[in-house]
Amino acid sequence: MATRTQNRQSNRTASRNSSRSESSDARGRRDNRSAFSWGDGAGPVIAAALGGVAIGLAANYGRKALMQGLEAAAGDWDEILATEHDLALAVFDKMLATDESQTFKRKMLLMKLTHALDKHAHQEEMVVYPALREANEKADADQLEGEHGYIKTFIYELKNMGPSAPNWLEKVREFRALVSKHAHMEEEEVFPSFKESMTDEQNRKVTGLVNADGFWMA
Ligand SMILES: [Fe+2]
Ligand SMILES: [Fe+2]
Repeated sequence: MATRTQNRQSNRTASRNSSRSESSDARGRRDNRSAFSWGDGAGPVIAAALGGVAIGLAANYGRKALMQGLEAAAGDWDEILATEHDLALAVFDKMLATDESQTFKRKMLLMKLTHALDKHAHQEEMVVYPALREANEKADADQLEGEHGYIKTFIYELKNMGPSAPNWLEKVREFRALVSKHAHMEEEEVFPSFKESMTDEQNRKVTGLVNADGFWMA
């Protein structure tokens, strides 16, 4: 009578033999498959996905190039930033022309405004304000950057109150007043004297940096 140990051994031998009977083709396929391999037939799917990513990246690059190209055409760094102020104020006016039944439109306009102000603030905070501090205009740079904090606070409040809130228009009106005052200080006081104090080459450098930063934020 076979013992339990003998039975286990004969089972292992049988399993080894059945492995040996596997065709060398199938074994080759199995051995080539690492833990990270893709199933048979995945090639075209992966190629299509990678192609899609490449097209997406190219389209995004094209969109950014178009957006920033249009802005660069506005001129020097201060003119680019002034154009962005006008665009943001125009979005505010569209928001103020809505009523509380237009919740979808209000949400879309707030998204557009958030993106525009975010990109704009990034260009100023990463290029213009540091350049101002470097030129010993720390007080102006700090005041303006502090106001950007309150601009973000308005966005936070509007998102939290929702587009059908009874005081939505009042909040947008207060928000617009802050942005308008802030833009006025930049356009009428700080930027002209800063531009005047720099050489043409320094101004060109700031314009290039604003454009480069704006490209990635577009
Ligand atoms: Fe600003
Ligand atoms: Fe600005």
